[in-house]
Amino acid sequence: MPQPLKIAVQKSGRLLDGSLALLKECGIKIDNGKNQLKANARNYPLEVYYLRNSDIPGYVHDGVADIAIIGQNTITEKDLDLEEILPLGFSKCRLSIAVPKEVEYTGDNWLNGKKIATSYPTSLRQFLDRKGIKADIHVISGSVEIAPNIGLADAICDLVSSGNTLFRNGLKEVEVMLKSEAALFARRDLPQEKQNLLDQLVFRLKSVQAAGNNKYLLMNAPNENVERIIEVLPGMKSPTVMPLAESGWSSIHTVISEDRFWEIIDQLKALGGQGILVIPIEKMIL
Ligand code: PRP
Repeated sequence: MPQPLKIAVQKSGRLLDGSLALLKECGIKIDNGKNQLKANARNYPLEVYYLRNSDIPGYVHDGVADIAIIGQNTITEKDLDLEEILPLGFSKCRLSIAVPKEVEYTGDNWLNGKKIATSYPTSLRQFLDRKGIKADIHVISGSVEIAPNIGLADAICDLVSSGNTLFRNGLKEVEVMLKSEAALFARRDLPQEKQNLLDQLVFRLKSVQAAGNNKYLLMNAPNENVERIIEVLPGMKSPTVMPLAESGWSSIHTVISEDRFWEIIDQLKALGGQGILVIPIEKMIL
């Protein structure tokens, strides 16, 4: 029985639902009792630790957990040497500087001599140093957006996703310091048997991701246009073409990225494509 791979996920917070949904899509079933901080997967050698977001990088770095699903911004802030294995495409946000909306912001020079409230002092310090700006960093652990309103700071540095929180607090985003999304991180130098488990997990994650970006496309078309339609279709390989019961017509099947589909739909219709079906793919093995 191999040692299980130990994965840390958020105990609560924005990444939790997405993290658990992704593991489920990978076919991993987790016995998750309410308020349980450690759980085992039933059908995969995986132990799940539910931890506070800000503690996760340290636990992975120290080997308490082997891997984690966490925001890239949290790793940057903790400044620890972990390996980013795979960006996961959810919980996208940016770490930005915002100022009261009535401020005439003239560029990053405006920040010189100002007081900036943040829960991300390391990232902010790196940004200010890079730009050669001297500002006073005031560290607070939450509700940062309120700071300018109560006279605590001139500006803030915080995560922005929809921008609603800034808007509700009369602030405007003036500098995007970094962009972030949820990603899978691992500690350095995993033992080989854990590395093998991680490789299997990454294989599953990539199959889920590929399926999400692609659709199965079916359509009927007159035989005389099949070749031209195939030229338009950017499939994985050559599409499947099968004769229909009605003579002179064929059915064409292929896999296509959703974005690309919208780009070529008009051409497919102009070439006589009919009964076009676009079907979600659950898993795609690359
Ligand atoms: C984050 C962040 C902002 C807010 C931005 O807080 O600190 O306050 O989300 O999101 P929006 O642009 O969609 O409004 P979160 O609610 O995750 O909790 P936190 O204060 O614990 O970080």
